[in-house]
Amino acid sequence: MAAMPVGNAANGAKVFVQCKTCHVTTPGVNRIGPTLHAIVGRHSGSIPNYSYSAANKKSGVTWTEANLFTYLEAPRKFIPGTKMTFVGLKDPQQRADVIAYLKTQ
Ligand code: HEC
Repeated sequence: MAAMPVGNAANGAKVFVQCKTCHVTTPGVNRIGPTLHAIVGRHSGSIPNYSYSAANKKSGVTWTEANLFTYLEAPRKFIPGTKMTFVGLKDPQQRADVIAYLKTQ
C-alpha cells in the first residue's frame, strides 16, 4: 500500500460532498449510512441505532486513518458484503483530504 499523503481538511470538505448523499457528521443522525461523527478511531458497526450489514458488523475494523485510507479506495474490497455501494475514491490525495476533514468532525 502506498503511504498516505498529508491531508488538507479544507479540500476534504469538498470531497465530502460525495459522501453527503448518504452520510452527515452530526452526532446521532443516520441517513442511508451511519453518522460519521468522530469516525476516526471509532470501531466499525458501533452506532447503536443504525442497521449495519452483517459484513460491516463482523469486520472488527477500527477506523484508524490507515484503515480508512484503504477502505475508501474500494469499500467493497476492504469489507466484502458491505452495503456501502459507494465505488470509492481512486485519488490518494482525495482520500487523505477527506480523512483530514473527518478528523475535525
Ligand atoms: C451511496 C451511499 C453512500 C455513499 C455515497 C458513501 N457511503 Fe459510507 N456507508 C454507506 C452505508 C450504507 C454504510 C453502512 C455499511 C454497512 O453496514 O455495510 C456506510 C459505512 C461507512 C463507514 C463505516 C461506518 C461504521 O460505523 O462502521 C465509513 C467510514 C464510511 N461509510 C465513509 C464514507 C465516506 C468517507 C464517504 C465519501 C467518500 C462515503 N462513506 C460515501 C453508504 C454510503
